[in-house]
Amino acid sequence: MKVLLVGSGGREHALAWKLAREGAEVVAAPGNPGLAALGRCVPARADDLDALVALAEVERPDYTLVGPEAPLALGIVDRFRARGLPVFGPTAAAARIETSKAWAKRLMLGAGVPTARASTHTDPADAKRAAHALGAPVVVKASGLAAGKGVVVAETLAAAAAAIDDMLVGNRYGAAGAEVLVEEFMEGEELSLFFVTDGETAVPLPAAQDHKRLLAGDHGPNTGGMGAYAPAARADVAAEVDQRIVGPTLAAMRAAGTPFTGLLYAGLMLTRDGPRVVEFNCRFGDPETQAVLPLMDALGSPLGPMIAGSLGLAAPRVVRTADDPPAAVTTVLAAAGYPDAPRTGDPITLPADLPDGVTIFHAGTARDASGQLVTAGGRVLAVTAVAETFARAQALSRETAARVEFAGKQYRDDIGWREAARHEATRPA
Ligand code: AMP
Ligand code: GLY
Repeated sequence: MKVLLVGSGGREHALAWKLAREGAEVVAAPGNPGLAALGRCVPARADDLDALVALAEVERPDYTLVGPEAPLALGIVDRFRARGLPVFGPTAAAARIETSKAWAKRLMLGAGVPTARASTHTDPADAKRAAHALGAPVVVKASGLAAGKGVVVAETLAAAAAAIDDMLVGNRYGAAGAEVLVEEFMEGEELSLFFVTDGETAVPLPAAQDHKRLLAGDHGPNTGGMGAYAPAARADVAAEVDQRIVGPTLAAMRAAGTPFTGLLYAGLMLTRDGPRVVEFNCRFGDPETQAVLPLMDALGSPLGPMIAGSLGLAAPRVVRTADDPPAAVTTVLAAAGYPDAPRTGDPITLPADLPDGVTIFHAGTARDASGQLVTAGGRVLAVTAVAETFARAQALSRETAARVEFAGKQYRDDIGWREAARHEATRPA
């Protein structure tokens, strides 16, 4: 199989790594230095649809795999399909499940999918009344794409009012925040579950848990994600989510005339009343993918045949899941100043040797004029360790993260801390 991969982050490096291990030829646009070591990188930007269509017409891959949400929101799948080019992802209309939280919420409520109660507003006074009615803590969200930053979990009604004014009056997120959701706060542990779907049936990948806050102990500002581990839930949770959440959602998407194809990412809260949806995304998660794919690799589960199967290009294959070992832990290394104003251009030194089971994925890296690897984005690298026990994977990931050197490096040394505490609690005395 030849795959054209759109994107340049850690998620894309992990996708290419997995597909390359399955024997695929990968061409990345635009790629990064990590991807360049696995295949060919072509300098076409991920949001330049004209350039990507032209590239696909020259390269003629078996299919194109789209990493980030921006090209999906711009309609890359619509453009490719109109030209008869096979592509894995949702149309722009179906991508609304991520790009419009208001649209997604209406769809979920209409389909009876368990999620937080919410209302949508363009008027600040209405939004504040809704927040009062729900009571604190309460969640205020910009409806549109805001790079993971448009969500405020307000501990007080005053904080909720400030967030509402920030979005609706202060225009903090521009058009993305011109409509807000005021949402019930859900208590519980978060889970990311990915489903590969042809619009009708959905195949789950192993569950992962992201760590959104910048600092250890889940403190500090929200980020795109500072680390993840997998598996993060037993297989019966995936079955329940498939039945109660993903099945009804896909049916509602078909009924709306916008069937969802590609990768459906269910961001869930495991509440006392069972799993409820925090949000849907229309693409693979980052950094969860950097934990999930190495775990699948260790389990002998292929990714390529699932994707090709969902596109009708090959017989679909089912993923092996396991409730027991191995485990994968991913630690993200972020640049100085992340998430507000990441600094770029700091020289990076990678460890000369890596322990068995450890892979370093490139996210925001570049080569300078002399060929030196330097920081080039907020999240710079992701260190994934796969091992027979969770504790071993966690230690390997953390120890290797400590050995990567660049000025201003930020990382969490507690990825998987909830899982570690559970292991601690169940260890025989
Ligand atoms: P989102 O971009 O919708 O995933 O929200 C970002 C983060 O805010 C989530 O990962 C949760 O940690 C938190 N969050 C969002 N909505 C809720 C909610 N209704 N209840 C509790 N936490 C939430
Ligand atoms: N890790 C969160 C996301 O990909 O949206």
